[in-house]
Amino acid sequence: MEGLVERPRRLRRTAALRAMVRETRLDAAQLVQPYFVVPGEGVRREIGSMPGQFQLSIDELVEEARRAESAGVRSVILFGLPESKNPLGTGAHEHDGIVQKALSALRRETPGLVRIADTCLCEYTDHGHCGPLLDDEVDNDATLGILARTAIAQAEAGADIVAPSGMMDGMVGAIRGALDGAGFTGVPIMSYAVKYASGFYGPFREAADSAPAFGDRRGYQMDPANVREGLREAELDVREGADILMVKPALPYLDVLRAVRERFDLPVAAYHVSGEYAMIKAAASNGWIDEQRVVDESLTSIARAGASIILTYFATEVAARL
Ligand code: PBG
Repeated sequence: MEGLVERPRRLRRTAALRAMVRETRLDAAQLVQPYFVVPGEGVRREIGSMPGQFQLSIDELVEEARRAESAGVRSVILFGLPESKNPLGTGAHEHDGIVQKALSALRRETPGLVRIADTCLCEYTDHGHCGPLLDDEVDNDATLGILARTAIAQAEAGADIVAPSGMMDGMVGAIRGALDGAGFTGVPIMSYAVKYASGFYGPFREAADSAPAFGDRRGYQMDPANVREGLREAELDVREGADILMVKPALPYLDVLRAVRERFDLPVAAYHVSGEYAMIKAAASNGWIDEQRVVDESLTSIARAGASIILTYFATEVAARL
């Protein structure tokens, strides 16, 4: 067909041409590596459903963080498994709580990394829900005060960003007020604004020992069928003072990510969650997919859909080859 004028294939002929016209590029600076911190010393326990990810004691965490930093990672998010749990989850704001100790260690040992603290109570309550219970439901307003104290404790210990993930109404406003009152006006809030009640969190609950002892989280996390409700959640968090909006999980919710990106001008983050990680690892270990290719394609798609920040368990290995 000589008369064919439009030939998009012209720009796909060589690797150099493809790179020249590429619209989306990953950058190590946008990746956030999550870690699970446990009490003790010399603990490096692999998580069964997340090969290559570990529960780490603080000394081992520092080693991992150094490794991540030399691979090019610039930020990490911490989840803690406390020594003991109680009905209110008050361990989350103890001065010498596990995440607080880990934050101070990283502030000392890897000062160049951005330290993000996940601000939630599910790892600290003995029933595994994200706040204290009232008649078998999470008591929203009682949770807010504990979250606020937790955010202050995290900021005091060296959190550069706090990231409330419990989907409580008013959590961003409560935390903003508390941080400001304690003099932490400069600590940003990355809100898990649009977080779905998702089956993709399965491996995380093993990793963080945070599975609810009864019921599920559908009374506070969002219904996977809803996108307009997600925009409302994001809008409320913007009004309450959120600095960064997160959508979670990532790949199954790219349409939501795009909608949030288009509607708001804040930086948008996406959490490529434990189940997304586990599926790739499982298929790759069976030889069914090419791991690197699928990881790069997944993260590129998340960025293309609108995320400027990506939390992913693949952060360190991807950063190393970028
Ligand atoms: C805590 C929290 C969860 C995740 C991040 N923060 C679990 C949950 O809501 O059940 C999930 C992260 C992942 O699956 O990788 N509220």
